[in-house]
Amino acid sequence: MKSILVLGGAGYIGSHTVYALIEAGKKVVVIDNLETGFKQAVHPDATFYEGDIRNRSFLDEVFEREEIEGVIHFAANSQVGESMTNPLKYYNNNLCGTEVLLESMVAHGINKIVFSSTAATYGEPESIPILESDPTHPTNCYGETKLSMEKMMHWTSVAHDLRYVALRYFNACGAHPNGKIGEAHNPETHLIPLILQVPNEKRGHISIFGGDYDTKDGTCVRDYIHVNDLAQAHILAMEYLVNGGESNTFNLGNGVGFTVKEVIETARKVTGHPIPAKVEPRRAGDPSTLIASSDKAKEVLKWKPQMDSLETIIETAWKWHKNHPDGYDNRTM
Ligand code: UFG
Repeated sequence: MKSILVLGGAGYIGSHTVYALIEAGKKVVVIDNLETGFKQAVHPDATFYEGDIRNRSFLDEVFEREEIEGVIHFAANSQVGESMTNPLKYYNNNLCGTEVLLESMVAHGINKIVFSSTAATYGEPESIPILESDPTHPTNCYGETKLSMEKMMHWTSVAHDLRYVALRYFNACGAHPNGKIGEAHNPETHLIPLILQVPNEKRGHISIFGGDYDTKDGTCVRDYIHVNDLAQAHILAMEYLVNGGESNTFNLGNGVGFTVKEVIETARKVTGHPIPAKVEPRRAGDPSTLIASSDKAKEVLKWKPQMDSLETIIETAWKWHKNHPDGYDNRTM
C-alpha cells in the first residue's frame, strides 16, 4: 500500500487527520518542522520526518525514499493577528513553502494534493450562508496567503498533471475523543480553549470581544466544526482525487451559527464552572457572522459531520484541556 504524506501532521488539525487516516487503515508519512507542532501529537504508527517544506532537497529525499499516493498539506502559519504584524513570515512559509512543495511533487510525479484552506479567504461575507462561489476578499494577510496558495495550485494544475482539493474550514474546534491529542497553540487566541482556561484556573475570566454586533445577543456568530469531522473530510477528499475527481474547493462547517455568549454558556454547562465573562471592545477585523454552506461537500464528497452538537464539541475539548492544562509536555504518550 502506498502512503499518504501529511505535511504539518504534528499540528492541531494535521495530527487529528493522521489519527483518522491510521484508524481507517492507511499508511501515513508525516513531515513537520515542529515550529508550531508537537512531536507528541504525531501518531506513533506514522513514519515521521522532522524538516521544513521550504527545503527542496529534504522534500526530494522523502519523495524518493517513500512511496507516496498523495499529499495532505497543513504546513503553514495560521494566526490572523501575527499575519498582520509579520506578513512576510506568512508569505515566506505559506507561499514559498507551497511553491517548493509543488515543484518537488511535479518533479516526482505525485499528482494529488488536499489542502488546508480557510473561511478567511472570503473576508467580510456579502451573504449568509457562505457559498464556495461567493467573492473572496480576505481582510487579513493570513487569508490572503491561503487564497494565493489556492491560486498557485490552480495554475499548477492547469500546466501539469496535478489535481487538488482546497478545504475551507470555518471554526475548527474540539479534540479527539480518545483524549490523547487536542488543541495547543502558543499563544492561544481561539475562543473555546481560552474559555476552558477559566475552569482550569489559568485565567480569571473570558473576555467577550464586542457586545454591540447586529446579532441576536450582540456577540459574534461563528460556525464551529469538530476537528475529527474536518479530519474525515480530508480522507474523503483524497479518495475523491484517487477516484479521478477534478480539482475542487469545498467549505467545511456545520451550517449552524453560535454566538460567543452561547459558546460560553455551553462551556458552563459542560464544565460545571460559572466561567465569569466580561464584555470588552471589539477585536479589529472580526466579521460579525460567519456561517458556511457545506452542501457541496455533503453532495460531492458525501461528507457528514458526526460531532455536530456544540455540547459534544466542548465536551471533547474539555476532556483534553482538563487533562493537559499546559498542552503537550515532555511525557511520551
Ligand atoms: N473571541 C472572544 N474572546 C476571546 C477570543 C475570541 O470574544 O478571548 C471571539 C472572537 O471575537 C470571535 C469568536 O470569539 O468572534 C471566535 O474567535 P476565534 O479567534 O476562536 O476564531 P475566529 O473566528 O477569529 O477565527 C477563525 C479561525 C481562523 C480563520 C478565521 C476566519 O481560527 O483561522 O476563523 O475568519 F482565519
